[in-house]
Amino acid sequence: MGGRALASAWAVVSSLLPTLGPQIPLFHAAHDRAIEHLWGVYTPFHAVEDYPALPDGCSVSQVNILHRHGARLPSATQTADILGGLNKLLGVREYTDQRLEFLHDFEYTLGENLLVPLGALQSRQSGETAFHRYAPLVSKNDLPFVRASGMSRVVDTALNWTAGFAIASDQKYAPKLSVIISEEGNDTLQDNNCPNAASSHKEMAEWIDVYGPPIASRLESWAPGANLTNNDIHGLLMLCAFHTVASVVPEDFEAGKPLPYSPFCGLFRAEEFTSFAYSSDIDRYYTTGYGGHLGRVQGVGYVNELLARLTHSPVVDATSTNRTLDADRSTFPLDRTFYADFTHDAPLVAIFNAIGLFSTPSLPTRNPDPNRIWYTSDIMTFSSRMVVEKLECRRGGAKNVDSKKKTDKFVRIMVNEVLQPLEFCGAPSSGPYHGLCDFDKFVKSQNYARHQGEGDWAKCFA
Ligand SMILES: *[C@@H]1O[C@H](CO)[C@@H](O)[C@H](O)[C@H]1NC(C)=O
Ligand SMILES: *[C@@H]1O[C@H](CO)[C@@H](O)[C@H](O)[C@H]1NC(C)=O
Ligand SMILES: *[C@@H]1O[C@H](CO)[C@@H](O)[C@H](O)[C@H]1NC(C)=O
Ligand SMILES: *[C@@H]1O[C@H](CO)[C@@H](O)[C@H](O)[C@H]1NC(C)=O
Repeated sequence: MGGRALASAWAVVSSLLPTLGPQIPLFHAAHDRAIEHLWGVYTPFHAVEDYPALPDGCSVSQVNILHRHGARLPSATQTADILGGLNKLLGVREYTDQRLEFLHDFEYTLGENLLVPLGALQSRQSGETAFHRYAPLVSKNDLPFVRASGMSRVVDTALNWTAGFAIASDQKYAPKLSVIISEEGNDTLQDNNCPNAASSHKEMAEWIDVYGPPIASRLESWAPGANLTNNDIHGLLMLCAFHTVASVVPEDFEAGKPLPYSPFCGLFRAEEFTSFAYSSDIDRYYTTGYGGHLGRVQGVGYVNELLARLTHSPVVDATSTNRTLDADRSTFPLDRTFYADFTHDAPLVAIFNAIGLFSTPSLPTRNPDPNRIWYTSDIMTFSSRMVVEKLECRRGGAKNVDSKKKTDKFVRIMVNEVLQPLEFCGAPSSGPYHGLCDFDKFVKSQNYARHQGEGDWAKCFA
């Protein structure tokens, strides 16, 4: 887990918040994480580990990147949640704590929905990394084939990624954004096709009612009469994240300067960010994640597209694919070595769920398990990426391979650089081939997608 050292992080925050009066500790003693790595799905991208080296004798023959858009402004609903608490605080005349004094000249000016400069930068950096990592797969006739879901922040993410890819290759290889899939229709890169899908309102409310009250009473004592609800607290925590990511100057970020934390971040303790992060875990878990009715089936369309590319055969799907686009080799080629698709967090989670990644049978709304693997702040950050590599390895390198085969083909998957265990297709859990599934076993393991969601798709409409 790539957090900064506690002492230095604390020094940085102290120096950024010189006027906030007696410091409340922003970092949980047991939590060696910068607060921006505790913002759930609003966490800026960070590589959780180093990209794992390939086993000896193996090379990548195909790569599929599924990429969430970069850091953005709040949506309309989120803006309403933010303004609820903010306007109550602004309506209070006398604050009893200096940490709220900044509100006397605070004006809320964040817009909505768009990618922010940090999001553009992290997407460009992702394109640069992709070129450096996969240059051997690329030629003038075999550039990455790029698709994006139709919302502007997703399209901008894709365009910044392709720009980064071109920059890293000294403009020798400039991939185009070839397909923009309308979010009005069948779209495997958006969760817009399943009207009966679950919402997480009940579970979110349960958890907000656990962690909100102590924060509400503290802020109430600093802003008497504000009448903050637990929901307002959630909005103010979101404001810390959104206000901060919107304020990042790309040059400063690239130079390694600390994030320009919003003064709203100074209102909360580190363990409160930990609770906030868990609200994202709950939200995603109970919508398109393992706890969401009809979450998994919404990932099937993309998985069937992925299987088509891996096996070089036409897409077989009866769920969310656009059959017109996928039947046409100019909008869905099958002969490429490099594919990149740009999406949102909800479909990314549905796809994890359909594949079987981060499998988590339950997620309590009261007592979080600190050792859970369903941890949005690492796996569903802004600019999160799932990378599926097809590998060709020298014969006989791995023990779990059918010795009659001519070539040893494998699949491995990284999420934010972390090699996934792929226990569902028999990947070894240790040794040089750990995390590698035999190619055919991987394909077979995707039965839920290959069987069109086993009847679940019809339930989206019934
Ligand atoms: C990168 O994203 C920004 C929005 O944040 C957009 O204005 C810009 O056009 C994008 N860059 C490219 C090269 O498309
Ligand atoms: C499928 O894609 C085509 C081409 O972009 C588009 O015209 C059509 O409306 C889409 N259909 C659906 C149902 O999404
Ligand atoms: C808070 O609630 C009290 C009692 O209901 C009311 O008098 C007061 O105006 C409210 N304060 C704000 C800031 O809305
Ligand atoms: C869109 O999806 C629906 C539901 O699977 C399907 O009936 C329809 O044929 C699809 N349309 C296109 C253009 O793919």
